[in-house]
Amino acid sequence: MTKNTVVLLGTGSIGQAIARRVSAGMHLVLADLKKENADKAAKILEDAGFETSTIAVNLGSREDILALVEHAQSFGPVKNVINAAGVSPSQASVQDILRVDMYGTAVLLEEFGKVVAEGGSGVVISSQSGHRLGALTEEQNTQLATSPVDELMTLPFITSITDTLKAYQYSKRCNVLRVMYEASRWAKRGATINSISPGIIITPLANDELHGPRGEGYRKMLSMSPAGRAGTPDEVGDLAEFLMSSRGRWISGSDFLIDGGTTASYWYGDLQYLKATH
Ligand SMILES: NC(=O)c1ccc[n+]([C@@H]2O[C@H](COP(=O)([O-])OP(=O)(O)OC[C@H]3O[C@@H](n4cnc5c(N)ncnc54)[C@H](O)[C@@H]3O)[C@@H](O)[C@H]2O)c1
Repeated sequence: MTKNTVVLLGTGSIGQAIARRVSAGMHLVLADLKKENADKAAKILEDAGFETSTIAVNLGSREDILALVEHAQSFGPVKNVINAAGVSPSQASVQDILRVDMYGTAVLLEEFGKVVAEGGSGVVISSQSGHRLGALTEEQNTQLATSPVDELMTLPFITSITDTLKAYQYSKRCNVLRVMYEASRWAKRGATINSISPGIIITPLANDELHGPRGEGYRKMLSMSPAGRAGTPDEVGDLAEFLMSSRGRWISGSDFLIDGGTTASYWYGDLQYLKATH
């Protein structure tokens, strides 16, 4: 007997919060670069009544993503796809950030866009960081959105990036543009695809940032932000649940900033001082 399948790539706190909200009664595939992270998530979720399987997948590898597609389809139609895998500026090199966060996400959208089930829905976790880049040219936007995936890493304005924060920002901007491009393809299968751009959400990855080389700046930013605090994985989960639910069927190709007002303040409020450092 087959079951509708949910695929979660990146089994950290944000991914788990989303998966819990959309996977009841389905088969939940837990995929992560670190199999032990997927196994840990499986234990928690199986104990909460979910049916799961785990698989090691590197988002930065097309071969791995194809294996994930095959694994997921072996349980039944792929209804929901959640990409919550990624590396942050303090965790990885420029090349690794571009390969995983930018290229890998584009491959994932392309490959799951070929198989997603009628009525299905996908969510990509991007970042507020992508909203801190100034406007790109229309041509750059088009290149990030529509270039063949294997050419993304060779675009001149991408190969010239030397700073990990810039690599992260461009990757996250690319995620949002790529989702816009993919929305038409996913629609042909009766499915929607959207991105969510969170501000600082307390997770192990965010804790690395808060205690990394840019930690002090992050803590000051949070205290001066409109909400005055970081977000929680569950708040992102609630938004993703809405986008993937029957109430979200008219929403596709969109990006949702969820950051307690931080980006608005960065451009036009108390956090404008940050512009000098980004
Ligand atoms: N936490 C935040 O403040 C925050 C803010 C904005 C955006 N994000 C984004 O949210 C996503 C999830 O982050 P999180 O905060 O839940 O972190 P997390 O560390 O809790 O989870 C990330 C997971 O991704 C996995 N992963 C890393 N590289 C991978 C790869 N190459 N292939 C497959 N899996 C890989 C890790 O093993 C980990 O389990 C990331 O894309 C991150 O950029 C996080």
